[in-house]
Amino acid sequence: MANSAGTRTFLALASVVVILLLGVTAPVVYDALTNPTTQVQHSLSFHPKFPSPVAMHYEATTVHYTMQGPEADEEFAKLLPLHGHTVHLLSESGVIETFTVTLFHQLKCLDIIRREYSELYPSNPDLTQHCLTYLQETILCRPYLGLEVTKNRFATGRKSREIVCRDWEVVYAEATRNWGVYSAIVNGTGHA
Ligand SMILES: *[C@@H]1O[C@H](CO)[C@@H](O)[C@H](O)[C@H]1NC(C)=O
Repeated sequence: MANSAGTRTFLALASVVVILLLGVTAPVVYDALTNPTTQVQHSLSFHPKFPSPVAMHYEATTVHYTMQGPEADEEFAKLLPLHGHTVHLLSESGVIETFTVTLFHQLKCLDIIRREYSELYPSNPDLTQHCLTYLQETILCRPYLGLEVTKNRFATGRKSREIVCRDWEVVYAEATRNWGVYSAIVNGTGHA
């Protein structure tokens, strides 16, 4: 008898605690899940989270990313995310602003400089000059301190080695996620 009375008291108290907790947390959770502004603010962001570093096998000579031709055109085009190079963020005043990402801008500039070398593509000296300046300044901004041998064992120009890199894939994944959110907002599917 005493036991079952104790159990009833415990259950009653536990119910009160559960109801109180629900009362306090449920509105907050509900608000976060249903308030469109909160959702958009959290999802229209650009914060790639770099996991552990990845290794890149660097090869000085490669058949990829050559100076001209349709295959090279396609390879350079694929250095940008499918949707393009932009990301969209919500400003503090609630306006959607468009940005490009330095990584994508740098890679696009490599492509522009490459094209200037070949008569297959229209020449654009102004744009090429912009890219030279842009790459020069952005490379300086992030000094990469890898140490490279100045002469290899065979005294040929061929060099290969492993480089430790930040995982660039997460930048593409985050840009694609950001585009998905932006796309849903702009095209009015309402699921930000
Ligand atoms: C919106 O939808 C149109 C038609 O499907 C598409 O062409 C366009 O790229 C979309 N806009 C965005 C920002 O996704």
